[in-house]
Amino acid sequence: MFHNIPEPMLERMAYLEKIDTRDRQDDTPFAERLRQIPPETGRFLALLATMAPPGRVLEVGTSGGYSGMWLALACRQRGDRLTTFDILPNKTRLAQETFDIAGVSQHIDLIQGDARQYLPGISEVAFCFLDAEKDVYAACYELLIPNLVPGGLLVADNVISHQQELAGFTQSVQADPRVDALVVPIGKGVLVCRKLGSSV
Ligand SMILES: C[S@@+](CC[C@H](N)C(=O)[O-])C[C@H]1O[C@@H](n2cnc3c(N)ncnc32)[C@H](O)[C@@H]1O
Repeated sequence: MFHNIPEPMLERMAYLEKIDTRDRQDDTPFAERLRQIPPETGRFLALLATMAPPGRVLEVGTSGGYSGMWLALACRQRGDRLTTFDILPNKTRLAQETFDIAGVSQHIDLIQGDARQYLPGISEVAFCFLDAEKDVYAACYELLIPNLVPGGLLVADNVISHQQELAGFTQSVQADPRVDALVVPIGKGVLVCRKLGSSV
């Protein structure tokens, strides 16, 4: 999967990495910043998504489509589609441009809107990357967990970079008997949750 990333995708990844670095150094308004994951988190997500059981692959928080490209690599490997949500029209437009340039649009359903409105209708979820505003994490988690297949994975970003803001969420997930969960110190810190089987 990592040995044959198409050249247009590599170029688009490098382009977005440059914009993201610039955003963090200047006074780009918050709503316009990409705030994307670093490459090591992208690789980690792609590996996890590839190993997840059969089912749907989702992302909450598309931004410019950077993490979406990593997940698209996993979907290519799985023979699945990626469904990704972003609430902002400007981010959705940029992500569409990313997916077109990277040559993966035909494998991605990009939806502009509040993911919380769509998640209740999506069942058989094998993998979800949660990377939206921190105040919607708990609501998204509660909507997703019932729809995860046994062994399905939910991965939430920023649990170390936003440790204080997400402390309640992280603690309650780790205490949730429906999942096994662990904070992995990669990138900005990801919380990996695996849904337990119905018999557990
Ligand atoms: C941290 S950025 C995502 C970065 C992206 N995952 C990446 O690594 O390339 C968070 C994104 O979540 C979007 N967002 C925030 N709340 C949302 C919601 N309720 N539903 C869908 N998207 C949301 C924001 O518009 C923003 O683009």
